[in-house]
Amino acid sequence: MTARVLGSVATGVAGVMLVSALAVSASAQAPKSITAGVYTKAQADRGKETFSNNCLDCHEADRFTGPAFMADWNGKALSSLWDKVNSMPEDNPGSLKPQEYADILAFFLNIGQFPAGEAELPGDAAAMKGYWVEPVKK
Ligand code: HEC
Repeated sequence: MTARVLGSVATGVAGVMLVSALAVSASAQAPKSITAGVYTKAQADRGKETFSNNCLDCHEADRFTGPAFMADWNGKALSSLWDKVNSMPEDNPGSLKPQEYADILAFFLNIGQFPAGEAELPGDAAAMKGYWVEPVKK
């Protein structure tokens, strides 16, 4: 009984949070799935280079793909990951240009098998709120 009441309260809270998160991103632009081709291959190649030069000392790239990536970021706006990478490298936070951080995200999407598209992922904090992390549909 108690568990069931708690369960429905939790569902209600999650629902409200989801609705308000969607409302925020809708005011910037309609939410766009990261499965919709939101970066270019050339951008991902640049991101790979930037990642190798700035991140590889502390992180293996495969930490940012597959189940590990989904466990952290699935169901969130890409801005959560954006905020995190902007706090990196840990020993020199925010030292890269916004476009370089966006290139690193493009690299993560590329190694995570999300399809590339025609337009680059913009290095723009507000725009990042408009991209939604979800799995590629098989
Ligand atoms: C000097 C070491 C160091 C460097 C260089 C570094 N990081 Fe980190 N990073 C850490 C530590 C420590 C953490 C927090 C503990 C953890 O999650 O591993 C972290 C956490 C993260 C996370 C959060 C992981 C998660 O799943 O919550 C991301 C994303 C990340 N780093 C990306 C980057 C990127 C991108 C770069 C290069 C621009 C970078 N890091 C460079 C040390 C580093």
